[in-house]
Amino acid sequence: MKLLKHFLVSVILVCTVSLSRADEGMWLPQLLAQLNERQMKGMGMKITAADIYNINKASLKDAIVSFGGFCTGEVISGKGLVLTNHHCGFDAIQNHSTLERNYIRDGFWAANNAEEIPNPGLFVTFIVRIDDVSKQVLAGVSSNMSESERQSLIDKNIAEVRKNVKKESYQDNFVRAFFEGNRYYLFVTETYRDIRLVGAPPSSIGNFGKDTDNWMWPRHTGDFSLFRIYAGKDNKPAEYAKDNVPYTPKRSLSISLDGVSEGDFTMVFGFPGRTMQYLHSAAVNQIMTLNDPAKIAIREKALAVIDGFMRRDEKIKIQYAAKYAGIQNSYKKWQGEVMGLSSTNAVEKKQAYEAEFQKRVNANPQWKSKYGSLLQDLGGLYSELKPYGYARDYFTEIVGRIELFTVASQLNALVAAWDKDGEKGYQQRLPQAKRAIENVFDEYNVTVDQRLFEALMKLYLDDQEDVFISPLFKKMAGEPADVVSASQNVYSELTADPENYINGILSKSPADAVELLRKTTAVYLYNDLLKTYQSQAQGRLNDIQSKINRFQRQYMEAQMEVFKEKTFYPDAISTLRVTYGNVKGYNPRDAVTYDPFTWLDGIMEKYQPGDYEFDVPEKLRSLYAGKDYGQYGINGKMPVCFIARNHTTGGNSGSPALDAWGNLVGLNFDRVWEGTMSDINYDPSICRNIMVDIRYILFIIDKYAGAGHLVKEMNLVRPKGKKPVK
Ligand code: ARG
Ligand code: ASP
Repeated sequence: MKLLKHFLVSVILVCTVSLSRADEGMWLPQLLAQLNERQMKGMGMKITAADIYNINKASLKDAIVSFGGFCTGEVISGKGLVLTNHHCGFDAIQNHSTLERNYIRDGFWAANNAEEIPNPGLFVTFIVRIDDVSKQVLAGVSSNMSESERQSLIDKNIAEVRKNVKKESYQDNFVRAFFEGNRYYLFVTETYRDIRLVGAPPSSIGNFGKDTDNWMWPRHTGDFSLFRIYAGKDNKPAEYAKDNVPYTPKRSLSISLDGVSEGDFTMVFGFPGRTMQYLHSAAVNQIMTLNDPAKIAIREKALAVIDGFMRRDEKIKIQYAAKYAGIQNSYKKWQGEVMGLSSTNAVEKKQAYEAEFQKRVNANPQWKSKYGSLLQDLGGLYSELKPYGYARDYFTEIVGRIELFTVASQLNALVAAWDKDGEKGYQQRLPQAKRAIENVFDEYNVTVDQRLFEALMKLYLDDQEDVFISPLFKKMAGEPADVVSASQNVYSELTADPENYINGILSKSPADAVELLRKTTAVYLYNDLLKTYQSQAQGRLNDIQSKINRFQRQYMEAQMEVFKEKTFYPDAISTLRVTYGNVKGYNPRDAVTYDPFTWLDGIMEKYQPGDYEFDVPEKLRSLYAGKDYGQYGINGKMPVCFIARNHTTGGNSGSPALDAWGNLVGLNFDRVWEGTMSDINYDPSICRNIMVDIRYILFIIDKYAGAGHLVKEMNLVRPKGKKPVK
């Protein structure tokens, strides 16, 4: 038995501690020449690392933007046209939609520059340059400093670095920690704030398949929208002005009409949000067996409540569509994550990796004294964290989901401001509170919210250890607990129109308002929920987490020292990265094989007339019937989506997928369900990113929407030399 175990451990190890495994990794663009170029060329890339990232002349990176800080976009014409996902541009599309001009339902296409619609608050950021400033930032930092001493020295050093940075007046800069604080990079950036909506397909194309198809392969979604960057007359960033002009980019992407074949090289260039690749096995185990399942169970209840209303009531369906999609998105992702972590034996792999680490450390006296007890210490801290992490999930997923508590948190903050600074404090806080409250009530139904309260607060009461439960709520619920009557207590006081009721209070004098707020059940109940969480969980949580951060930083440093043969990439933190891998299908389960490509034929297979998720617009059906694909089809078929082994995560949505020559071939928007655990444990056998084929996007713009003038702005190429492009 022991021998067998040993053998298994070694087999698993060969897979984990291999020399930088192809496909895995979100690489820093400025280090490609040093770390990745050889492998990329070996996998089929025809350009150089300097074509991708260069600070002395225009390179591909100059065509990539962070879109609003939450997605990625890319410049695809000499007139500042930006391509991103439909779900990334959705807020803008929704904001400009009315019942008469319903761009969500019908799509939107500006016929000329004058019709392009401004979006206050939306911005795109270019990365001008990335510098290693680790030496300056870590100057004077020593291992015996406390975490807070260390942080304040680092903050001081960063301020110094930023003060002395060489940059133009219209540029910004920031410094970020990488490898858990072992390295620091400075980013010089340019942010444009006049971003106008140019085009979007109807949701029946841009979000085809909705929640049923979300996170799934085979996929048939045309998840794209178009924006344009506007600049001042000098082409520099400028606040919105009517006579700003389309931005002339340093670089825009050429677009390939040749597509990709299975096995072809691809890379994805964008802003991945957050990953956790270097966790201790105990942490992975906790996510898989405790935190994810808890969050999934809570969201399942919330979704069931909201769905019940959305199906019966058209108004609620519109009000709650975005909220529902948001809750559903992570709910489904976590399910995939649990599934993938377990099917790929992620915990066992981490344990095997840790065993090898420990073996190497023990064999080297210097390492042993420095790192000998690291893993054990980290493991111990994760056991300590367990109950508090669970309490955090319960608080954020339950109290954070019930929107009356979001309102109450603002009201509670008003009372706190009064208690601290009197009338002045209250008045200062009031505008912010009003805005936040208005935001909630913008899309709110009190009955839905009360049913959510009943369903979720029951979990709060039933599934938590006593110490984490608000004593006040326990008392309100009574014995035996009756959450329904507790909810009536809270909600009936606010009448059928809570917005009106609360605005009534806020229109009174500060002294009177505060007195009324103190007596409002929702407000003092929220206060007790918050206090209970803060005193019983949050303090301990922060304490333990700060210790974990320290050990995790040492563990990162140690891994890089001990596994010298491995090339490490830092966890994603919403900074610019390159990931690369070949186009490839996969086997999700026994006897099932997935092709890497989908076609318009598949849309017609999924078509359900009048269905909320799978309806197909008439125009698209007739283009299909006439096989009217123009230069975008191949052999009488219209490509729609494809998958590859690119290591992506949330935030990579809207990222360009580039071919071996750096031409745009696809638009990244999702991952396959079996592989969403790639944030924690990338496994090349089942991790795939999903992209819309650029030819489908061009087909929709040109043939479906009749916006061929936009295609004329673009540079279309045929790198595989099949046919000349007009
Ligand atoms: N799953 C994708 C990502 O994480 C796309 C989400 C948008 N689509 C949706 N049906 N909710 O964000
Ligand atoms: N859909 C994600 C996004 O919006 C991408 C992913 O998680 O793969 O960024």
